[in-house]
Amino acid sequence: MLRKLLIGTALASGLAFAAHAEDVKEVQMLHWWTSGGEAAALNVLKGDLAKEGYAWKDVPVAGGGGDAAMTALKAMVAAGNYPTASQMLGYTVLDYAAAGVMGDLTETAKKEGWDKSVPAALQKFSVYDGKWVAAPVNVHSVNWLWINKAVLDKIGGTEPKTFDDFVALLDKAKAAGVIPLALGGQNWQEATMFDSVVLSTGGPEFYKKAFNDLDDESLKSDTMKKSFDNLAKLVTYVDPNFSGRDWNLATAMVIKGDALVQVMGDWAKGEFHAANKTPGTDFLCYRFPGTDGSVIYNSDMFGMFNVPDDRKAAQVALATATLSKSFQSAFNVVKGSVPARTDVPDTDFDACGKKGIADLKAANEGGTLFGSLAQGYGAPPAVANAYKDVVSKFVHGQIKTSDEAVTELVKAIDDAK
Ligand code: GAL
Repeated sequence: MLRKLLIGTALASGLAFAAHAEDVKEVQMLHWWTSGGEAAALNVLKGDLAKEGYAWKDVPVAGGGGDAAMTALKAMVAAGNYPTASQMLGYTVLDYAAAGVMGDLTETAKKEGWDKSVPAALQKFSVYDGKWVAAPVNVHSVNWLWINKAVLDKIGGTEPKTFDDFVALLDKAKAAGVIPLALGGQNWQEATMFDSVVLSTGGPEFYKKAFNDLDDESLKSDTMKKSFDNLAKLVTYVDPNFSGRDWNLATAMVIKGDALVQVMGDWAKGEFHAANKTPGTDFLCYRFPGTDGSVIYNSDMFGMFNVPDDRKAAQVALATATLSKSFQSAFNVVKGSVPARTDVPDTDFDACGKKGIADLKAANEGGTLFGSLAQGYGAPPAVANAYKDVVSKFVHGQIKTSDEAVTELVKAIDDAK
């Protein structure tokens, strides 16, 4: 009765309309999309929101993989200063949801039919306690090689199908005086590459047990030791200046033909796209040798915070735009990723994108779709950080042997759990 009365009064005095008119027409977004390809992709979203009358308040925090961005987000949230949304990876969404600071997009999700169009693997991280708390933007995959085609042709190379083939190919590049492997020596890049090495060395079941189930026996196995041996082998093909290099600068080395190949998630393709390069002509995308048939994925999510009422309409507009079919196609073509919905046609995607879409579907149906440990989808952030730390210490020689690396990995993951 009281509620009715209040509504009646508000309507009568025109307050309800005034409140609506006062909606803040602005989206404040924290993200780490600062490379050329990433910024171009973000522009697609800014443009779509501008058409609906929403201004964009950018909160960029540079640093691939998002570690710096997540530190900045933590400080903002602790100060009660919630952005409309933040780019987030997997388990981080669940952490913030458990802390009770996320909003509830369930009504929008129902209206838009997200339950049916977003794959279950993503809903596991965007729905918490029955409520939609994040809008998935894309699906990236990390087990890729990005190869400069002119360099490959020059050295007479072909697609490597096994780890040994890969080593033989890197040897050819070295003999021709080209930097074989472009790597950025930052912990998240090294661990992202190691995800692929582990899948290639141990196979799909092993990857899942070790890096998704955190099975102790697998983590301390000879197969894990062999994986570190293989990683050590790859690192011998990196140039001496790799420490601290940003991922997109490593991609640029391949684009320019200074290096043969980069092992990186398909955000690297966003850089090729931004440089007007064409797959099949200028560059090649192959699955990391020995991982065909499996996909190690991550997905960028826009985590939606529990913002004040006058900012909720903008949040709904952002979420709706993010998961619209047309945006999912236009954005992911530029970003290098594939749609976060299963019903988006692959028509506008290049050959690598079409392959990415088909691979994802097959892996999802065949039970070979695995979360990336390096990219926030294998285990909660504390475990992922412990993992990145051990891999990086190994790459940079602070951990000297594969035996030691295995011992340190088991210990670090155990402590972080
Ligand atoms: C990943 C993210 C990608 C890309 C990459 C490099 O964590 O999922 O969208 O931004 O970092 O910055």
